[in-house]
Amino acid sequence: MLLNGKAIAQEIQAEIAGQVHQITGRKPGLAVVLVGHNPASQAYVRSKKKACALVGIQSLVIELPASIALSDVIYEIEKLNQNPSIDAILVQLPLPPHLDESQITAAIDPNKDVDGFHPINVGKMLLGEEGAFLPCTPLGIHVLLQKSSIPIEGQHVVIIGRSNIVGKPLAAILMQKKRHCNATVTIAHSQTKNLAVLTRSADILVAAIGRPHFIKKEMIQPGATVIDVGINRLPDGRLIGDVDFESVSEVAGHITPVPGGIGPMTIAMLLQNTLRGYNDQK
Ligand code: GUN
Repeated sequence: MLLNGKAIAQEIQAEIAGQVHQITGRKPGLAVVLVGHNPASQAYVRSKKKACALVGIQSLVIELPASIALSDVIYEIEKLNQNPSIDAILVQLPLPPHLDESQITAAIDPNKDVDGFHPINVGKMLLGEEGAFLPCTPLGIHVLLQKSSIPIEGQHVVIIGRSNIVGKPLAAILMQKKRHCNATVTIAHSQTKNLAVLTRSADILVAAIGRPHFIKKEMIQPGATVIDVGINRLPDGRLIGDVDFESVSEVAGHITPVPGGIGPMTIAMLLQNTLRGYNDQK
């Protein structure tokens, strides 16, 4: 069965639009910092801007040249930290190689850090404290599983990919000792031995690898839930996931499509985090 991230994201966006509509006076504001000319990043930023407009959130895109110095990026972030009409700040990744990602994310006011990448928010997430911003993609996966009534507690979740954006935070969220979490989590990566043995033991398999159609039918436990986080653009322009959807959907119990699965959920969570940032700043 298809897990329709797009439809669930639209429901969430409609709720957010309703709440934003009720706000009289200043509307929530998101600032997106885009450094350089990475075409994929430019496309993501356009989608984020469009989604904001659809729900009534103000958005401001700060475009900076690829050659910019670290101190100048930090200066721009500090201006946004001080700007009372901005509730949420996001620096689109990846950054040009000369810019240190950790220094840049650490410059964002943790109370405006809607990506949840600031060390304070990462720490709170790991400690299971309420009130931290959770990264949008893992949060979107968790919400999609819950809204699709997929059991999580006690289930074996195998996540392939150990990135700071998806794999690590998703593991932290799903292993929390609380309702709708309590999963047994395994993280696999490029050095993992006997990957297929591991993936076949997964009740929920999450592919966040960045390699087109890496996950094949033989790697799936019949009936498992398969979450595809991959967005790979082929030379002909088509977008395909990390999962070989056609064959895997023959054995999976539930599966997300690409496009129309996790991508829209990520954007819905960004809007939700932005609204929360607004409500917290008030
Ligand atoms: N690049 C890929 N995914 C993300 C994300 O969730 N946030 C940011 N800022 N950049 C990304």
